[in-house]
Parts: sequence; structure tokens; C-alpha cells
Amino acid sequence: MAEAASPIIEDEEERTHEYTDSSLLKRLVGYLLAYRKLFAIDVILVASDIALAIAAPFVLRQAIDVDFPSGDLQALGVTSLIYAALQILTWLSAYGSGYVMSMMGQSAVYKMRQELYQHLQRMSQDFYDRTASGRILSRLTNDIDKISEFLAGGLVDTFAQLFVVVAVGIVIFTVDVQLAFVSLAVVPILAVTTVLIRIRMRAAYRRTRKTISSVTANLAESISGAKVTKSFAREDVSGERFAELNKADYQSNVDASRPSSLFFPVVRFIGGLGVFLIIWFGGVRLIGETLTIGTLILFIQFNDQFFRPMLIITNFYNTVQSAFAASERVFSIMDTEPTITDATDAVDIGNIKGHISFDDVTFQYVENRPVLVNFSLDIRPGETVAIVGDTGAGKTTIVNLLNRFYDINSGSIKIDDVDIRRVSQKSLHSAIGLVLQDPFLFQGTIKDNIRYGRSNATEEEIIRATEAIGARTVFENLEHGFDTQVGERGLRLSEGERQLVSFSRALLANPKILVLDEATSSIDIFTEHIIQRGMKALIRGRTSIVVAHRLSTILSADRILVLDKGRIVESGTHPELMAKGGVYYSLYELQMRPRVAHSPTAG
Ligand SMILES: Nc1ncnc2c1ncn2[C@@H]1O[C@H](COP(=O)(O)OP(=O)(O)OP(=O)(O)O)[C@@H](O)[C@H]1O
Ligand SMILES: [Mg+2]
Repeated sequence: MAEAASPIIEDEEERTHEYTDSSLLKRLVGYLLAYRKLFAIDVILVASDIALAIAAPFVLRQAIDVDFPSGDLQALGVTSLIYAALQILTWLSAYGSGYVMSMMGQSAVYKMRQELYQHLQRMSQDFYDRTASGRILSRLTNDIDKISEFLAGGLVDTFAQLFVVVAVGIVIFTVDVQLAFVSLAVVPILAVTTVLIRIRMRAAYRRTRKTISSVTANLAESISGAKVTKSFAREDVSGERFAELNKADYQSNVDASRPSSLFFPVVRFIGGLGVFLIIWFGGVRLIGETLTIGTLILFIQFNDQFFRPMLIITNFYNTVQSAFAASERVFSIMDTEPTITDATDAVDIGNIKGHISFDDVTFQYVENRPVLVNFSLDIRPGETVAIVGDTGAGKTTIVNLLNRFYDINSGSIKIDDVDIRRVSQKSLHSAIGLVLQDPFLFQGTIKDNIRYGRSNATEEEIIRATEAIGARTVFENLEHGFDTQVGERGLRLSEGERQLVSFSRALLANPKILVLDEATSSIDIFTEHIIQRGMKALIRGRTSIVVAHRLSTILSADRILVLDKGRIVESGTHPELMAKGGVYYSLYELQMRPRVAHSPTAG
């Protein structure tokens, strides 16, 4: 089955970090140790639990070896009461430690999820280009859940079982050395079995983490692509693909459960073997009267005390294994530093005039495939530059670079003569208003989305912004006006409405520089007209770079740049470029001309 499922592993992102078990454990426990007080309380409760468990067999021996033969009813009564008291205290301490443990574990998980989320927010664009969102989602949910089972599911409690084992091992030697050796004779067998099974388990659990990640990633993609799937009638194929991934997840879990299901009975069997040895050797000495029956029972009880923790540890081992496999994945994201970070001496970009210059910029997304080569461009404050060019020419790339979503390979990009690598990303992004080719809206109302870039904007300011864009009546005519829910990614709005929301959002934020990546698809004439007007309002008084697909936008620009394979091949105004009869002319004839008839502002 491993062969058949190999593609699933292949589209998993590369494992960037290697972790040892001890480093994982140390780090996970570190999360618990953030809650020192709870941790201390838990340790006290667990310690008392252990002490009580070790005391109980001695009380039993007192009853058997002393109280029964003496026939002292009163003494027997006291011994019985002590035994009952021990049980009540055991109950209370176990209850207390269980509760404290889960509280601590849940707090740790909360903290870890917060950290992971904040880290993801810092990651650069290239990380998101590489990593499927469903896979990231899987780490925030599935993987964290597994870690939660580990941290909240009695880590301290289980860890304490190790102390029970050690304590019991020591105590039995104080009672009877020979029988203690007999009792522990089976321990080497246990050790060897544990090591053997353990090796197989880790590999198996690692695989389960990957398969569930594939299931989640596929699910996330299916949901976003539901419409495309339907339109191509590909439900069957998508269904088969999902079934395949789901099946691989099923199989990997079954595979993982095999060694772990084997482990539990094996430990129990070895424990039984221990009892057999105690009955035989102890029995011989009992008959030879060198051992009391109370001591024999004490040893049988301690055998139970010794192997029960083993079983608990064993049982917990599954949780440990999957938590380790999960935490490798979570930590590897946390340990992946964003490729773009603020310089240590980064300054606030401050109040700018809006002078932009690209100087001899070269950039590639992937090795040996340069997108921009020796690209230079100077834009005066307040100027509007339109960039046109074939698809894939590098227009959006220019937008990405100015926003420093990626770092350039050589050259420099400056705003008001300051290199953008020297200013804080936060201030850079506040200075630049970005209207994306495909505007993204967040779940919420239209008003929420417009307010996104300036959360303290008043109702009146919002309305004024939409008024300036010319979209006020469009929004007011929706069912709930400005309070209309836009749905996930704004899918409950039309494309034109989405663009108008993103224009209003940019205008309200009032940036000095505006970068607008015009949508490629055409919209109905009426909305198109509103959008043209909105765009003009948006551009007014700012330095603007507009990646233009519409003739009307191009005509209103101060300068037109024609981009071809990452190079500026022509530059000038519309009449200048038309007169030249070069690339722009043919581009115009090919791409813009047919639109003239649709564009109400043209001609
Ligand atoms: N994240 C990325 N990783 C790798 N290559 C990319 C990435 N984004 C874009 N490219 C490549 O870089 C080139 C320029 O892309 P860009 O998005 O800048 O084109 P564009 O001019 O905006 O095109 P369009 O008019 O279709 O929007 C293309 O060949 C594209 O395949
Ligand atoms: Mg583009």
C-alpha cells in the first residue's frame, strides 16, 4: 500500500527540520511549564497519589500478617479504616490532578495555537506560494488536536507513572531482596520488546499525520473549487481522488494501530509471567516458612503496581507517538523564518511625497527564470503611470515588489529616496494602497470590509468614501444596504460590487501611493462606468501605478509603459505611442480596440 499512496507523500512540503524525541519532549513540556503554579499543584497531587498507592499493600499486609492471626477486632477495624481512608484520598488526588492537568494542557494548546497563528501572519508570500492552505489548516487543527491529547491527556500523570515504577522497584528491595530480583526478572524482556515496537510505531504515526493533512488539503481545495468541479462535471473524478486520499489515511491508521495493539497484550503477558515467577519462588519459600503469606500478597500487589503503570504508559505511547509526529510538523512551521523581515534598524517610512524609483531591478520567483531584468522606472509624486503588456509580462510582479512581498535579487526600489528594505514593512504597507487584480473580501458586512484598512473610521467617513467612488447607491440598493453580508471571500457579491468595495476600502485608508492591478474580466457597461469614475476618484492626488486592461484607464494616465517579458519596451502618452506604430500600437489593435465599443468613456 505504501507504493500506491506515494504521491500523497510527494506533494507534502519538504521536511525542513529534524527533531530528536528529547528535543520535542523538552519543547512540549516547556509549554506546560509556562503555567508553573498549576504545574506545581499537579506535581504535589500526583506525588501524593503515588505515595498512597505504595502505602496500600503495606496496610493489607498488616491486616493479613498481624491483625488476622492476633484476632484483635479493634486493631483490624483501625487497619480497615486506614485502608478506606487511603482509597478516598487516592480518589481525591486523582480527580484533582486530572482536572489540573487538563486545564494546564488546554492552556498550553491555546498558547501554541496563538503562536502558530501569529507566526503564520509573519510568513512571507513565498511560503504561501509553496504551501497549500489546506495543509497549513491541517497543522492548526488536526496536528494541534493530537498535541492537545498529549498535553491535556495526562502527560504529568503518565510521566509520574515512571516514578511509580522506580519507587516500587526500590521499595520491594527493602522488603525482600531475593523476591525482588525474581519480580524484576522479566524487565529485560519488556525493555527489548518496547524498543522493537517503538521504532515501527514512529514511522507509522508520521505517515498518519501526512495522510490526514492530504485529506484536509484536498477537502479545502474541493470546497473552494466546488463551482469549477461542477461546471466541468468532474464530481466523479474529484470523488475518486478524495476516496483515494481518505483510503490512504484509513490504511495508515490501521497500519499504525497494528504495532500498538500488539504492544498492550505483550506488556500484560509479561506482567503475568512476573506473577507466575512470584507464585513459584515465593510459594516454595512460603512452604519452607521463610516468607509470610502477607509478604507474598504484597509482592503480587506490587507486581500489579509495577505493570499497571507500564500499561498506562504503553497506552499513552500511541498518544505520545502521534503527538510527536504532529509537533514535528507544527514546530517546523514555527522554526521556518519568514524570508522577508524588517531590518534591525528599520525606520518608519513617515510622511512621504510619493516619489517611486525602481533602479536596475532584477528579480526571479524561481531559480534561472528571471521575470524582471535590469528594470528601471522613475515615477514623480502625483503621477499616474499605466502599465500594459501581455499576460505574464511581469505587471503584477512589479506590484508585488513595490509592496515588498518578495525581495529583489539585485538593484533597488526606493520611495522618496529611501530603500524599501530599510523601512518597516508595516509602515510601507500603510503608505501604499493596494487594489488587487482579484479583490479579496473578508466574511462580514460591506461596511466591515470598507473599514478594514482603518478600523476607527466613522459611519460618515465610510459613506463619504463610497460617495466619492460613486458606489453609494449601488450598496444602498442591496438588500441590507451597507450591512449586507458579503459571504466568504465576498462571493455573495457580484464581481463589480466586490471591486467597488475594494476601491472604497483603499480610498478610506487614504494612502499616498496607490497601486491598482486592474481586473482582467470585463463587467457590464453600467458598472464599468461606475468603476471608471471610482478609479478616477481613487487616483486623484496620489502617485499611482495602474496595471491597466481598460482603454479608458490608459487614456487618463500621465504616462503609459509597455512591458514585454519584464522589460519596458515603450513609454509615452497614448497619441505618442500610437504614432510610433510599435508594440503598443499592435497591442491596442489586438486587445483594446474591440473594447472601445463597450467602454462608455472611450471615443
Ligand atoms: N508566485 C510565483 N511563483 C513563480 N512564478 C510566478 C509567480 N507569480 C508569477 N510568476 C511568473 O512570473 C511571470 C510574471 O507574472 P505576473 O503575475 O507578473 O504577470 P502579469 O503581467 O501580471 O500577467 P497578467 O496580465 O496575466 O496578470 C509569469 O511568467 C508567471 O508565471
Ligand atoms: Mg497580473
